Amino acid sequence: MKFFIDTADTAEISELAAAGFVDGVTTNPSLIAKTGRPFKDVIKEICQLIDGPVSAEVTAKDVEGMIAEGELLASIAANVAVKVPSTWDGFMACRALSTRGLTVNVTLCFSANQALLAAKAGATFISPFVGRLDDLGLNGMEVVREIRTIYDNDKSLKTEILASSIRTALHVKQAAMAGADIATVPPAVLRNLAKHPLTEKGLASFLADWDKTGQAIL
Ligand code: E4P
Repeated sequence: MKFFIDTADTAEISELAAAGFVDGVTTNPSLIAKTGRPFKDVIKEICQLIDGPVSAEVTAKDVEGMIAEGELLASIAANVAVKVPSTWDGFMACRALSTRGLTVNVTLCFSANQALLAAKAGATFISPFVGRLDDLGLNGMEVVREIRTIYDNDKSLKTEILASSIRTALHVKQAAMAGADIATVPPAVLRNLAKHPLTEKGLASFLADWDKTGQAIL
């Protein structure tokens, strides 16, 4: 499973990219707003930081507006993935943009049927929002599993499952086990994947014993 980083914070992206953990980046209007910077500047800078796809979301609600915005966003850099919502107009925009050879991420997906439509419309990525379903007491990861089954049943569907709205380290593990192709992970959650109290405890005791030897490796 690939890792995308769910942030528009360029300092975080640079740091995690240097560590070798960034296969792509996802942004959304809320993440862009958090930076306080101009949208196109942020996307351009992220696209220069990494080679993988960088999702930039349209804000128009109608198909013509989404297509026009999508084409403009795609002109910023070759690795822009145009993000369109899982609405009827979004699916039509997805078809038009993907037919023109652009990378399209269909976002705000909350059902397997939306994922089916997105794949039929030529989406490169489908983004089921796991955490937001869990927030409502529903089972977000079940939707990822359903999409995996549907895509595996029809080999003509080439869309990659991008598990989104990932909130915890448990979500990351579950997404990998459910067969997601990618998880888009907030930086703090990615760092949490390394943590285990027994690792910390074991390391402390090994190093305490090592200190007693008075030796140094270098
Ligand atoms: C994905 O593309 C979205 O930007 C993101 O995963 C949404 O996450 P949230 O539900 O935690 O805001």
